[in-house]
Amino acid sequence: MPATIVVGMQWGDEGKGKVIDVLAGDADWTVRFQGGANAGHTIWIGGDRFALHLLPSGAVRDGVRCALGWGMVIDPDRLLAEIEELEARGISIRRRLSISARASLLLPCHRELDGLEEEGRRSGGLGTTRRGIGPAYQDRAARTGLVVADLGTAHGRERLRAAYERLSARIGAAGQVTPWEELRASWERWSAEITPLAGDPTEEVHQALGRGETVLFEGAQGTHLDLHAGTYPYVTSSSTLAGGACAGFGIGPTRIDQVIGVAKAYTTRVGTGPFPTELAGEEGERLRRRGAEVGTTTGRPRRCGLLDLPLLRAAARWNGLTGIALTKADVLSGRKSNSVAVAYELDGRRIEIPPSSPHDLERVRPVYEEWPGWEEIPEGAATRSDLPQGLARYAERIASATGAPVVLISTGPERSSTISCSIAP
Ligand code: GDP
Ligand code: IMO
Ligand code: MG
Repeated sequence: MPATIVVGMQWGDEGKGKVIDVLAGDADWTVRFQGGANAGHTIWIGGDRFALHLLPSGAVRDGVRCALGWGMVIDPDRLLAEIEELEARGISIRRRLSISARASLLLPCHRELDGLEEEGRRSGGLGTTRRGIGPAYQDRAARTGLVVADLGTAHGRERLRAAYERLSARIGAAGQVTPWEELRASWERWSAEITPLAGDPTEEVHQALGRGETVLFEGAQGTHLDLHAGTYPYVTSSSTLAGGACAGFGIGPTRIDQVIGVAKAYTTRVGTGPFPTELAGEEGERLRRRGAEVGTTTGRPRRCGLLDLPLLRAAARWNGLTGIALTKADVLSGRKSNSVAVAYELDGRRIEIPPSSPHDLERVRPVYEEWPGWEEIPEGAATRSDLPQGLARYAERIASATGAPVVLISTGPERSSTISCSIAP
């Protein structure tokens, strides 16, 4: 399919990197459209691990073009470090990478401010990744930020100075501000190295689509971390929904052919916020160990819980999903049965999608169904007929709850551990 959007259906870390990597085998472009280095997308290829934060997951496949869209907040230090890390591993990316000149620059002061604001928040804060995301989007919305096009220009340097003074005043004595001389030196380096990659990838992608090429729009974070739709204020600062790809890259909804939602076979969350199906104690700990649920970006242990269909049902609607990629099915294998939340109860009423108020989401009681488990998934399983029966029924239940077919099941971190199927409602 020429234009496909891939988004997370839960609170991030659903395995989007793995799924994009598989789909990128048939793609000409992979592009990011929102967020920044708060993302951590992991890919395993023949025992080699790649963790990408700013570059789209197609970066690891030679020949796939990559783009960073104008909806992103780009930390130039991290971007250059990521490019150099790939180069050190024999993967050249610069000639395949195009960065929107309209995208926002995320400055060291944004990072410093993020950490400081996080420490100032009461009762555990939001649990941000401290990558500067909130402060950088604040500057974008306030129209005081810098964009990639400012690099290497005299007026960009003036805006840099103004931003530096404003942000360092906010940081004040409470934090550590990068000295101005250091920032100026960084600015020169960013200007020299990033300006040659800057341009108009939106136009390039439209031309590519016109030639019949295939483009994957790679969402970061997940549906329930969306700035508006998510569990506010425990969200990120960008639009993580499929619609965010349209606004964040510059493609109209009529040009999109499919929207794939990625869902983990259970639920995880890093950071603070409501989590109705969270497993406390030993049970949650077992799932965390089995699924190796540790944050790719921050190294924090992820909170773990049972599959939550109200979250997935809402994600299917808000993103207009045409298919679901179900990941980490192998992590649940060997269990006799699995409890799945099919609805919530709130003040004695049954509801099918998350309540609009996050305070109410704290109070809901999940309504569980018990579904039969499955044995180990056979090595080399690749098609529907290879699926253990319990897993096929689990996928059917997800399809019937969401109205979207399960089109891919991931059974391990490697590319080869992937089953393509079509399990309809
Ligand atoms: P993303 O942010 O959505 O790209 O997900 P992350 O990469 O942060 O976290 C997903 C983790 O699960 C990574 O360590 C992946 O290597 C791993 N993973 C992805 N799919 C599977 C799968 O089907 N089975 C197992 N066991 N691990 C998987
Ligand atoms: P990927 O793309 C999981 C969470 C943080 C915090 C909240 C706000 O790997 O799925 P931020 O730094 O964005 O201001 O933090 O959002 N968060 C993520 N959780 N996966 C991510 O990205 C995340 N990016 C941000 O933990 O709760
Ligand atoms: Mg991640």
